[in-house]
Amino acid sequence: MKTTVVSPANIAFIKYWGRSDHKLFLPRNNSISMTIDGCLTTTTAEILDDLDKDIVEVQYYGRKPVKIDSKSRKSKALFEQIARIRKDSKRKEKVKIESVNNFPSDAGIAASASSFSALTAALLVVYGQHEKFENKREFSRQVRLCGSGSAVRSCYGGFVEFALNIKKNDAYARQLSDENHWDLLDIVVVVDPGKKKYSSSHGHELADTSPYFETRISEMNKRIRETKKAIKNKDLEKLGTLIEQDSTSMHAIMMTSKPPIYYWNGASMKIMQEIIRWREEDNLLSYFTLDAGPNVHVICEAKDKNKIVRRLKRIEEVQFTIVNKPSEGTRIINKHLF
Ligand code: DP6
Repeated sequence: MKTTVVSPANIAFIKYWGRSDHKLFLPRNNSISMTIDGCLTTTTAEILDDLDKDIVEVQYYGRKPVKIDSKSRKSKALFEQIARIRKDSKRKEKVKIESVNNFPSDAGIAASASSFSALTAALLVVYGQHEKFENKREFSRQVRLCGSGSAVRSCYGGFVEFALNIKKNDAYARQLSDENHWDLLDIVVVVDPGKKKYSSSHGHELADTSPYFETRISEMNKRIRETKKAIKNKDLEKLGTLIEQDSTSMHAIMMTSKPPIYYWNGASMKIMQEIIRWREEDNLLSYFTLDAGPNVHVICEAKDKNKIVRRLKRIEEVQFTIVNKPSEGTRIINKHLF
């Protein structure tokens, strides 16, 4: 039997950076994101009796499919996730997996959120653990064990928290509001499509070498509380201020860890300054946030989309933009890839 799932990426409003346990992949702080509809992974899995090894093939938009081997860190995590779920299911048969991303690999958008959540869902279902997929909290834990924290949040649609329960050595996703709650947009502004030099995983390990890391952590409970309130009240000014504070706080940790990591470039800085200027001079409300790379995510309300996209496209360094609405989370579909 084949199973096919679709899973979206998400943008973190409050970032996950730094872990309290590198084996269980427990974060140091809770994070909050919006699940987005424009960057999707579709994955089909099928258990085949006659396979002597697992086969995984991935295709990015506009590219030829490539077979994955277990050399890179991300591929190793992928094959470990297959082996773990197979073992939990007390099964031995190998699996064939095909995956397609509807966004270009050179968009500079981490594909791990959508691809690891899709992979985990497809594996749970084909290996007979459907109930673990249906129980979203358990599903998100299963996703966490492959090591991508951002993927944990893609299990749910809308606005999602990745919550830590340190006493129970546990962390999982929970939905704050669904995708129909608020017409927010995440406009991804691509200024540098290159692959990032330092993986997030490496960054999580370095985070506590920054002298400012504990200060960031001490601010988090309040920031998480206020962010939830701003989402509930649909208060863009409040939410946007928190989003920018948190992005800059995370990048301060990155830039002051030992060794330091600089993800921003001149174009990122230029866009951040433009966004602030549009707010100050034209009362045009949009806010910036950046993950582990130089591309800028612009958060605004749907009513301002055209104005903001027009202005962004006038900036010389902007290569292209992807407009995302809030989306539903990981789901099963009937159309298989093979
Ligand atoms: C900067 O460990 O989830 O995006 O698997 O590469 O997405 P990837 O890394 P992960 O760390 C995410 C770091 C972040 C912030 C965030 O998404 O919360």
